[in-house]
Amino acid sequence: MSITRTQQHDVLIIGSGAAGITMALTLAESASVALIAKEALTESATLYAQGGISAVLDKSDSLESHTTDTLNAGAGLCDEEVVRHVVEHGPQSIQWLIDRGVSFTKAESEQENTDYHLTKEGGHSHRRVIHAADATGREMEMTLAQQAREHPNIEIFERHIAIDLITGSKLGWRNNHCLGAYILDRDNDEVIAFSARAVVLATGGAGKAYLYTSNPDVASGDGIAMAWRAGCRIANMEFIQFHPTCLFHPKAKSFLVTEALRGEGAKLSLPSGSNFMEQFDERAELAPRDIVARAIDHTMKRSGVEYVHLDISHKPAAFIKDHFPTIYTRCLEYGYDITRQPIPVVPAAHYICGGIMSNIHGRADIEGLYAVGEAAYTGMHGANRMASNSLLECLVFAESASRHILAMLSEPGTTQPLPEWDESRVTDSDEEVVVTHNWQELRRFMWDYVGIVRSDKRLQRAKNRVDLLQHEISDYYSNFRVTSDLIELRNLTLVSDLIIRSAILRKESRGLHFTLDYPDCSQDKTPQRTVLIPNNYLKAKAE
Ligand code: FAD
Ligand code: SIN
Repeated sequence: MSITRTQQHDVLIIGSGAAGITMALTLAESASVALIAKEALTESATLYAQGGISAVLDKSDSLESHTTDTLNAGAGLCDEEVVRHVVEHGPQSIQWLIDRGVSFTKAESEQENTDYHLTKEGGHSHRRVIHAADATGREMEMTLAQQAREHPNIEIFERHIAIDLITGSKLGWRNNHCLGAYILDRDNDEVIAFSARAVVLATGGAGKAYLYTSNPDVASGDGIAMAWRAGCRIANMEFIQFHPTCLFHPKAKSFLVTEALRGEGAKLSLPSGSNFMEQFDERAELAPRDIVARAIDHTMKRSGVEYVHLDISHKPAAFIKDHFPTIYTRCLEYGYDITRQPIPVVPAAHYICGGIMSNIHGRADIEGLYAVGEAAYTGMHGANRMASNSLLECLVFAESASRHILAMLSEPGTTQPLPEWDESRVTDSDEEVVVTHNWQELRRFMWDYVGIVRSDKRLQRAKNRVDLLQHEISDYYSNFRVTSDLIELRNLTLVSDLIIRSAILRKESRGLHFTLDYPDCSQDKTPQRTVLIPNNYLKAKAE
């Protein structure tokens, strides 16, 4: 089958969460934008973000303090220049959201040093998390999505899933330029070739690689996998963040219970009632989340319990309902009244600190290709992301990358004809069960062997299994017509392989990566990030 349609825009943005939608609105002032979402426009990790966005907004806080806290959480692996860039631009990014009409919770008393209520989360030494009650992401995503829908320069493609980037040489350009992407229109079963002068991967994280995750179904690592196949370097994939507190309930599908609950005084205990966090860290419930997640994991395993308790019922009911209306309502649906009783919680995979290597302008290794948001590795989070620093990174890098793209677009240049999508050798699958079976197997062994506590043996077991799966899926992919399930499985398997390989390479425990075989953090003064280089990585990248 040959291509039935092509699309041409100045910029192609794949992903419409915080990173993608911010870029779309910024770029659309002077460029034509195609904004792609594999589900509905707003379905993203961003939509479910609860706690808020960190930024220095209180007069008693400082950029230096936010920088230091971020570097400390990152356990020696943050890029300090990047951290300073993000922290310094934080207040401006928050102002951009406020100017766009995003409505944050206001300060409660005149004594506060800012107009907005700021909450506290693990690792932060000040109150600096601005929020919209406990549904910050929803407020932001819905507000920005409405504006994107109304913008004449933004063309939105919902339920379109990107399959692969199109790269090649361009007249007058060095080899290895990103020219566009092949994208499957899921409702019409048609592959469309999108051509653009700049392509942005804003595809979010890969939590779906794990059996238990706080992430929505869209988080299947597609952007990271596409970038790797196209020849980009991928860094720090071993650093998977497990959020300590997701609701434990068969029907809750890993509903997150925000860290801000602990910021406002919630305590963790065994179901029998005894608190345990003080035994692990003097900051107790407000230690960085790698420490809290490991403490919970350890406590659950030692005591043989299936969950621990999280309790904020000592606070006034009105305060709880006012600050945490989403959590209050959702927990009530599952039979728990958080104003009166503790709730059962467990850790779940939440965030990937590694991703597509990109520079301070969001540029990846291939000319014309940018990566922003959770899909990118910028150096901001090091070995452990501090709470609420992710949305901040999305916003600041969306702005930096947009500025860089606009400068590039102001120079002469054109898009060019793209090679056709070739379906001549494939048929429709008669064995869909292969996809569902492999999907379940992958997520199970990633949870069991590449989870909160790792070991050489567990990682090697996972590596053996992922190799088999990759082989089987590659065969299947070559023979059958693509579907969105197959695209996601292929990507998740590749991303899992990158996680396992990176974890095997790190012979120490640092930040989010903890292994029984090397339980200590190396004393190396200049610890190294883990960089994986694909075979087709070309030195011809533009720096
Ligand atoms: P996302 O928001 O995940 O958006 C990804 C987009 O890419 C989606 O539109 C999706 O459809 C699209 N996409 C993916 N693959 C393809 C493809 N192949 N083709 C087409 N489209 C594709 N961080 C904070 O800083 N503060 C918080 O309070 C906070 N709370 C969180 C709560 C939860 C429950 C979760 C899951 C995360 C939370 N995080 C929080 C982390 C943060 O929300 C994410 O890191 C951030 O939203 C990622 O934004 P993004 O734009 O990179 O990706
Ligand atoms: C939360 O609200 O606990 C999540 C915050 C984050 O992931 O940054």
